[in-house]
Amino acid sequence: MVQIVYLNGAFLPLEEARVPVLDRGFIFGDGVYEVIPAYSRHPFRLAEHLQRLQHSLDGIRLFNPHSDVEWHELVRGLIARNEGEDQYLYLHITRGVARRDHAFPQDTPPTVFMMSSPLAPAAPALREHGVVAITAPDNRWLRCDIKAISLLPNVLLRQLAVDAGAAETVLLRDGFLSEGAASNIFVVKDGVLLAPPKDHLMLPGITYDVVLELAAAHGIPSRVAPVAESTLRGADEIWLTSSTREVQAITRLDGSPVGTGEPGPLFRKMDQFYQDYKATIMRQPSP
Ligand code: PDD
Repeated sequence: MVQIVYLNGAFLPLEEARVPVLDRGFIFGDGVYEVIPAYSRHPFRLAEHLQRLQHSLDGIRLFNPHSDVEWHELVRGLIARNEGEDQYLYLHITRGVARRDHAFPQDTPPTVFMMSSPLAPAAPALREHGVVAITAPDNRWLRCDIKAISLLPNVLLRQLAVDAGAAETVLLRDGFLSEGAASNIFVVKDGVLLAPPKDHLMLPGITYDVVLELAAAHGIPSRVAPVAESTLRGADEIWLTSSTREVQAITRLDGSPVGTGEPGPLFRKMDQFYQDYKATIMRQPSP
């Protein structure tokens, strides 16, 4: 089946989708995006993703080209036109096509692009043994709460992990944990789940919220507060979360085992709670 994307009002095959080279997304990285998982063709936490999209648009002073009702329609249309019960959707809005000038163009319609890709479940070995991560200084800007398409710092930081044979780079700023290059990071110490606060130094993850809600619902104590580098390095467990990776245990950090070097007991519980929670979404009536 052909991969169908959405571009500026039309659904069309990916190969036919074209954007002019003067698009400000191409020239300046001037735009924002969202990544939304869909399980059994049900978009996961769509309202929350659309809220975060609005926050990102507000952050770059770009008018939202669609109402929530229109976004729901577009998302439903994209899912229906693509293969696979589980998909992840990519939404991308730029400040449109204009003569190159840093200042905002006047009366230029934004470019709206959406695509869907297959969402594969985590490999059993990964769930069983966790992943390896490294740390690096967080050298990004001070508006990491905006899901900006200009991802060069994240790309470079993530490549450090790839070069080291690791799955993620955990970022440290001024002696504190911020997040991963493309994920949020949690720490477990003495049975308490620790998470950095949602501020301008990290992306407010949708999966992050789900994990904290599930912890509260199942009586796992949690504390949202700055996490010092020493706490990260002395952690019993470290987890990463994202829409495409769900919850994964980091079992080695910078070459040293985290806790026992295997996914810990709280991770095992949270992984199960997360799968159970997803299943309740999938059982809802068809969207
Ligand atoms: N990224 N922090 C960063 C920097 C991220 O890029 C992501 C996700 C997250 C996790 O957010 P959420 O739980 O809402 O997916 C945190 C997506 C998956 C991406 O860029 O592909």
